[in-house]
Amino acid sequence: MMNFLDIHTTSAADLRSMMNSAHAMKTARKDRPKGTPDDDQPLSGRMVALIFEKPSTRTRVSFDVGVRQLGGQTMVLSGKEMQLGHGETIADTARVLSRYVDLIMIRTFEEQTLLEMAEYATVPVINGLTNRSHPCQIMADVMTYEEHRGPIAGKKVVWAGDGNNVCTSFIHAAGQFGFDFTFTGPETLEPEATAIRFAREKGVRITMDRDPAHAVQGADLVVTDTWVSMHDPESAKERRHNQLRGYQVNETLMAQAKPDALFMHCLPAHRNDEATSAVMDGPHSVVFDEAENRLHAQKAVMRWCLGL
Ligand code: CP
Repeated sequence: MMNFLDIHTTSAADLRSMMNSAHAMKTARKDRPKGTPDDDQPLSGRMVALIFEKPSTRTRVSFDVGVRQLGGQTMVLSGKEMQLGHGETIADTARVLSRYVDLIMIRTFEEQTLLEMAEYATVPVINGLTNRSHPCQIMADVMTYEEHRGPIAGKKVVWAGDGNNVCTSFIHAAGQFGFDFTFTGPETLEPEATAIRFAREKGVRITMDRDPAHAVQGADLVVTDTWVSMHDPESAKERRHNQLRGYQVNETLMAQAKPDALFMHCLPAHRNDEATSAVMDGPHSVVFDEAENRLHAQKAVMRWCLGL
């Protein structure tokens, strides 16, 4: 039984093996209707709880469809409607759910909630996003880069904007998959120092560059995300916009990257804030492939967790 809590706490060999499995499962069901089962049904007879304490479109639907394609069943739970949201401890919730289900995916606020769930559950736990990280998204993003351009190792990835939880997981991935990472954004919104230290200790180059036009020169991949995350207060919005306006990914900025550079955004996007529609819908963009690959990457994660 394995938990999938973060990219940096999972071995590079296991991450690569999940990546291979995701590509193979995607290829195997090419052109098949989404509701049809995979040939292989490793989750047959298994029940998966999907807990959401924050909103979701992609995570919710891709996990639900993925479990069904693998032959399992799901139960989607809203944190607010559970006793968890009314004072029951995470530890007790984890112990109880473990008597009913074979796997738990949770999207929550504090990382501590995820860690406690994993500590007390007797079934595997998957991180479906916390305020600190979003590892499932980055598994899909690495998969997407590699299906378009081949191995990501040695490439230059540039993140423009807010050094948020998705950015942190990208930095963890830089260390584990061996690519260089440049953050371009204001100093006050830089990504967390421990993630940067982790990646640097793995031997990759992590650079902070205030000048977006300089940062994206030679980039193989340009990434951005919403300027205000789900856990940020609404009151932060105006200040964030003022701080980040100069880091918008637009056609002028993309023109500074390599001609065959890809553009990614994990979605949902605020079009014409962090990225223009011309970029989102333009020739560099693979944003909907990223969304699709959540499905395939997470199927690989679930199989790995259960040793299937
Ligand atoms: N990218 C992502 O996690 O999307 P949702 O918030 O819709 O799940």
